[in-house]
Amino acid sequence: MSKNFKIALYPGDGIGNEVIDEAVRVLDHVSKQSGAFGLDYTNLPWGCDYHDQHGKVMPDDFLDQLRPFDAILLGAVGYPSRLSDHETLVPLISIRQQFDQYACVRPAKIRPGVPQYLSSPGEVDMVVVRENSEGEYFSSGGRFKQGGDDEIAVQTAIHSRKGVERILRFGFELARTRPRKKMTMITKSNALKYSMVFWDDVLDEIHGEYDDIEIDRQHIDAAAMNFVRQPSHFDVVVASNLFGDILTDLSGAIVGSLGLNPSANLNPDRKSPSLFEPVHGSAPDIYGKGIANPVAAILSAAMMLDWLGMNDQAARIEDAVNQTLGDKVGTPDLGGDLSTSQMTDHIIARCS
Ligand code: NAI
Ligand code: MG
Repeated sequence: MSKNFKIALYPGDGIGNEVIDEAVRVLDHVSKQSGAFGLDYTNLPWGCDYHDQHGKVMPDDFLDQLRPFDAILLGAVGYPSRLSDHETLVPLISIRQQFDQYACVRPAKIRPGVPQYLSSPGEVDMVVVRENSEGEYFSSGGRFKQGGDDEIAVQTAIHSRKGVERILRFGFELARTRPRKKMTMITKSNALKYSMVFWDDVLDEIHGEYDDIEIDRQHIDAAAMNFVRQPSHFDVVVASNLFGDILTDLSGAIVGSLGLNPSANLNPDRKSPSLFEPVHGSAPDIYGKGIANPVAAILSAAMMLDWLGMNDQAARIEDAVNQTLGDKVGTPDLGGDLSTSQMTDHIIARCS
């Protein structure tokens, strides 16, 4: 029997609008073709345009508006030449925290046919699991004596036992579902002697429960080097909010383009909706040219279907993306000459 899902579409700013249109085309195609599910979309025109009209990037009750949906599909938020990033990104961080979307899951694979920056990356198939509810993105701090010579800025990170333990367990469980059964925890306990030593301690406390998983831990600086030097080493990588954010732009470059990598901001308890979005931002440098790579958004939509239980349909979309890339066609970031919508046409044609 066909299931119906209520989806909040939140395209946001810049290329967020362009790539979400394409993801919707693919979803509609697969919905029609499979007959397995239907999607009721509600478009939420929040972001810089909304700010021009209302003086804020979204309505005050945005969390209440979003709560009834089965899932949220987001493009990207932010457009620094129009509004400062710390204003536009606040609601997104708030959604992640208030809906307790504590696991940000960001797969990065080298897919056949994609030109690479690295000359011999080997087989890369990793998932970075980013702690998404606290850490360095917890909003606590202040600026004192603002503008003066002796100004001070303070920003405090928090790392709770509950928060660290649950993200490590999420990483372990994910590693269990994967053939290599490896997990790397990112730390910086040589310098951050409270927070990251705490992460190390929590790992030590629980890893005995997962003795089927091979563990290593790397300092963030060494991990950044190893992402470039030997990306095939990594399977599941668990990192704090900031470290995971940085490593996943890097993992975008490692697989050939940031325009390829999807992400899921999951509330694993399913008490609130989860949010799916490309890893990339609003890319003002290419906005309006019709050349943004839609793959990251399309794969994010596939992760959304998977989360909603439409596993076969999600796999079908990923296969279609792989076939398209395997044909060595692509948008300019992949060295190709296709427009955003032509790239989607190719993917849809392979979604059979
Ligand atoms: P960005 O990810 O938007 O762009 C970085 C580079 O990658 C640019 O050269 C861009 O052209 C390229 N790129 C990104 N996505 C692409 C795609 N789909 N196809 C082809 N090329 C692509 O990061 P940037 O420029 O630092 O940030 C721009 C804005 O996006 C800022 O306001 C930033 O705060 C925001 N942002 C929002 C995020 C979100 O909504 N979750 C995530 C990251 C950035
Ligand atoms: Mg980022």
